[in-house]
Amino acid sequence: MASRSTSAASRVARRAPAPAPSAVPDLVASPVVKWVGGKTRLLPELLARMPERFGRYYEPFAGGAALFFRTAPRRAVLNDSNSDLIALYTALQTDVASVIKRLQQHRDRHDERHYYAMREQWNEHHAAWSNAERAAAFIYLNKTCFNGLWRVNRSGDFNVPIGRYTDPPICVPDTLRAAHAVLSRAELRNVDYQEAVADAQKGDFVYFDPPYDPVTPTANFTSYSAVGFGPDDQRALADCARRLKAKGCFVMLSNSDTPFIRSIYKGFTVDRVKCPRAINSNAAKRGDVDEVVIY
Ligand SMILES: C[S@@+](CC[C@H](N)C(=O)[O-])C[C@H]1O[C@@H](n2cnc3c(N)ncnc32)[C@H](O)[C@@H]1O
Repeated sequence: MASRSTSAASRVARRAPAPAPSAVPDLVASPVVKWVGGKTRLLPELLARMPERFGRYYEPFAGGAALFFRTAPRRAVLNDSNSDLIALYTALQTDVASVIKRLQQHRDRHDERHYYAMREQWNEHHAAWSNAERAAAFIYLNKTCFNGLWRVNRSGDFNVPIGRYTDPPICVPDTLRAAHAVLSRAELRNVDYQEAVADAQKGDFVYFDPPYDPVTPTANFTSYSAVGFGPDDQRALADCARRLKAKGCFVMLSNSDTPFIRSIYKGFTVDRVKCPRAINSNAAKRGDVDEVVIY
């Protein structure tokens, strides 16, 4: 196993595609929601290790999809098991104007009462709402909740209290329109990651950003959904990455730097990178965390 610690700047200077020919050069999009494990801070390290040319771009654990938005691929498959997130991307892809209009209404009405009323309505009714309504409520709650931490309990209810922000960026039309432009070239899927990559072909690029292996037994970043991602899931993912590699796909993954993760990616290059963590409910535990980029 190759194992190196590198600085983003040195690798970017050597290898970063600027812009990658498989991407659209003039589009600068960014995530529309804050997400646990969001990759915005790790982007230089990821961009430096991407292939310059590839067929289809696959991101089967999309979350905030920071690399997808930044890369703006010409052809893409974007997947997540979280149906609310995929409903949000579907609404931005097909009806961004309605999402913006509804978000402006939330922005105008925003206060503590509106937040808790929306949280209650979300938990009781959101499955029956239109995609645009659901998307606007999702973004509104995400931008105004405590720490921007989208967390659901075991029964799937969103239970985060209101955050203390003076002027949260509830509606930023330019960001939403830029996201719409990139999403318009993507096929959206809401299935398990293995199914999402089943049709990847030789030359396609697959970036896996799974729920991370916990660094300590109590650390747990897997709370974006009611279902966890344990050691057997990590092993199954490593097998899936191996199968794609054997098919001739370009494969890149990120995870935490633990002996277990290193042990299951023998045969891949494993680079240690530093990632400043933005989301941690305990401020004392914020700080740099060692992660690996595997390819
Ligand atoms: C670490 S986050 C991705 C972060 C993302 N790359 C970003 O930049 O914000 C992992 C995502 O995987 C999704 N997920 C968890 N288990 C999954 C599975 N079995 N199949 C597909 N998606 C899954 C979660 O809903 C979550 O959004």
